[in-house]
Amino acid sequence: MIKKAIFPVGGLGTRFLPATKALPKEMLPVVDKPLIQYAVEEAAEAGIEEFIFVTGRNKSAIEDHFDHSYELEKTLIAKGKTDALAVVHDMIHKPGSVSYVRQQDPAGLGHAVWCARNMVHDEPVAILLADDLILGHSCIAEMAACYRGGNMVAAMNVPKDQTHAYGIITPGADDGKLVEVTGLVEKPKSEDAPSNIAVVGRYIIDPAVFQTLSTGERGAGDEIQLTDALAQQIGKSDFYGLRFSGERFDCGSKLGFLQANIAFAMANETLAPDLRSWIKDRFS
Ligand code: G1P
Repeated sequence: MIKKAIFPVGGLGTRFLPATKALPKEMLPVVDKPLIQYAVEEAAEAGIEEFIFVTGRNKSAIEDHFDHSYELEKTLIAKGKTDALAVVHDMIHKPGSVSYVRQQDPAGLGHAVWCARNMVHDEPVAILLADDLILGHSCIAEMAACYRGGNMVAAMNVPKDQTHAYGIITPGADDGKLVEVTGLVEKPKSEDAPSNIAVVGRYIIDPAVFQTLSTGERGAGDEIQLTDALAQQIGKSDFYGLRFSGERFDCGSKLGFLQANIAFAMANETLAPDLRSWIKDRFS
C-alpha cells in the first residue's frame, strides 16, 4: 500500500503570467476548485495518508488553502451556511499528515522530488503533478492497484509532433494497458523519439530513485530530471507505464486549462445544462 505522496509545487508558472505573478499556478481554479486540491483528492482516493508539498517562495496560499480559516468558518456558522462550511471543513486533513518542504532553487522536477527525501523512508512513494488534471477515476489509485514494486508512471499516446513536451517511453511488452518501460528519455524531438508513448505527471517510485537523484546530475534543459533518474533504474527493478482510464488535461497550457474548465463544468450536473445551452446559442 502506498501511504505517501509528493506534490512538487515550486514551479514559477511563467506560461500563465500575469495570473501567476502573485498566485501559485497550482491555485488556478478549474470550475470551483484549485488544481492542487484535485491532485490531493485523487491521492486520498488511492488511500494516501501523508501529503508532502515541495513548495517555493510565493507559495504560501497553498499552505493556507489546506488550513483552517477561522474568520471564514465563524462567519459561515453565524450565517447558518452549513453546506459551505462542510466544503471547507472536509478539506482539512488530520493534524501531522500534511508537510511542506522548500525547494530553494527551481532546479528541475528531479530536484524537487529529491528535496522531499527526508520525509520518505524505505518505501515506495507517489508523485502527482497538479498541472496534469485527470477527469474520471483516480489515476494514482488505478496505478496503486497494479503496482507490484519498482517504478510506475502514468502513460498515454500523444501525437508524434508533441514528444518534445514529455518524457517518452521505449516500450517493451505491451498489453494495451500496462506497457513495460525499457527506455525513457526527457522531451525528445519527434525525429529522435523512441515512440509516442508519453509520461503523464503521475508516478510511483522506488526509494532507490532518491539515491540516483542525489548525484545532482543535470539533463534536458540543464535541469535535474526525474525522467533521467528513473531511466537509470531500468534493468534494476520492474518499470511499467499504465494507460489510465481517465481523460488528462494539460493545465500548464492555456488551451488545456480552458478545455479542463469546460469538461469539468460539463461533468457537473448543476452547471452542465445552462452551460451547454449557452455554448449552443452563443457559438452556433
Ligand atoms: C514533466 C516531466 C515529463 C512529463 C510531464 C508530464 O514535464 O518532466 O517527463 O512527461 O511532466 O506532464 P513538465 O511538463 O513539467 O515540463
